Amino acid sequence: MCNNWTAALSKSAKPVAGERRRAITARQTALAAAKAIRAGGYANLVVADLLSETSLTSVDTRFVTELVYGAARHQGTLDAVIEAASGRALTSLQPGVVDVLRLGAEQILKMRVPVHAGVAESVELARTQIGARVTGVVNAILRRVAARDWAGWIEVLSQGRSEFARLGLDTCHPDWIVQAYQEVLPADELRAALEANNVAPTPTLVVRPTLMTREELLTHGGTPTPYSRWGVRREGNPGDVPAVRQGRAGVQDEGSQMVVDLLNQVDAAEGPWADVCAGPGGKAALLMGLARARSAPFLAAELHPHRARLVASALSAYGSTPVVVADARTPAWCGDFGRILVDAPCTGLGALRRRPEARWVKRASDVAQLRQLQIDLLRAGLDRTTSSGVVAYVTCSPHRGETADVVAAVLADQTADLINAPALIPDVPMARASTDPRFIQLWPHRHDTDAMFCALLRRR
Ligand SMILES: C[S@@+](CC[C@H](N)C(=O)[O-])C[C@H]1O[C@@H](n2cnc3c(N)ncnc32)[C@H](O)[C@@H]1O
Repeated sequence: MCNNWTAALSKSAKPVAGERRRAITARQTALAAAKAIRAGGYANLVVADLLSETSLTSVDTRFVTELVYGAARHQGTLDAVIEAASGRALTSLQPGVVDVLRLGAEQILKMRVPVHAGVAESVELARTQIGARVTGVVNAILRRVAARDWAGWIEVLSQGRSEFARLGLDTCHPDWIVQAYQEVLPADELRAALEANNVAPTPTLVVRPTLMTREELLTHGGTPTPYSRWGVRREGNPGDVPAVRQGRAGVQDEGSQMVVDLLNQVDAAEGPWADVCAGPGGKAALLMGLARARSAPFLAAELHPHRARLVASALSAYGSTPVVVADARTPAWCGDFGRILVDAPCTGLGALRRRPEARWVKRASDVAQLRQLQIDLLRAGLDRTTSSGVVAYVTCSPHRGETADVVAAVLADQTADLINAPALIPDVPMARASTDPRFIQLWPHRHDTDAMFCALLRRR
């Protein structure tokens, strides 16, 4: 079965002027996106920006999105293929040529674009966007890439390497991420967990409690999220939903909704609620509604002023914006909070499915660099909580170095007790973390959520 764009591209290989121009324009957009991502841009933002400036058809828009996201996601393995096929290091090639080769290899090996179209259109792209002098090298390398299929290349590249390295190549993850997953997952789930990072999630919406109900949101289509009481899965552009435009609903992964609701459901002392790492404000917007439903005062804090403005915007539909710019390690506020959310800065290894390029940008050393900040934020959260108040320590990462190890370091010298968090969500299967059964660890391959981690700590 051909995808629509495969048919369009097959047609474009024939001398039909309109079709051909359309396909080249799509690839030019993809190349511009690849360059911007190489310069440090986020694939989702770059693609959205570029597509908003074009008048591509919906077929071409889907083609560009799949091509750019795929090339970003598969980059490490595509690079290994290109180096093996060319017999030269990528650093010996012009960066623009590398972009063209990655996009070409993605089309040939991962998309259902016919080989002749993938090669010919890449050569044409190189000619128009870089210069005629590079067409020979692009043509020669892509022809060698096309000599094998994906499985054939994985076989070749894995020779003499461990099963572990083979898994990383085949699922397109750097070794350190495969290892981090391996440390916290049963062996028979490792491949499924990594493969789940290669599938874009269905958009998930969330209501702002007290401003609208989930039933009202469902009148715009979609299905209720299975675990969160506040969410709706809905294909299509969230901006098409009036409540999202009005700020009475937002876009939020179901796992994020679940960890916020845990802090709402747990038994905790009276007192104001706070989200002390609030930017850009997704969790704060849900938590504020839940606090209002119980008449609890709410505070959102964020270190960076520009991100604090995003929080204020996310909360604006509530009519008041209790947002402060503050360092939550040394906050000015005093310690009588009943519930505090510490959604700590982390590597984001749990959200790889929505950040295609992230796995090749993050480094193993990032985990160690963030660790002291995470410990200090959790300590300060507990310090500012009243007796029997609860802190939710949350990361969008399953890496034990920024989850279990951080909580252990804080518990070693803090007067707090771990709450059995999975017991609060008995209907969610397999939510216990392998590092401690009192922690929650969600997974894309188990729950179709981001890999959110949550520990609930009660101050003595
Ligand atoms: C993982 S993000 C939070 C995401 C947010 N809770 C949401 O759901 O939209 C972590 C946030 O903490 C902020 N941050 C980092 N260091 C901080 C500090 N010392 N005090 C307060 N906020 C900090 C970062 O700027 C970032 O916006």
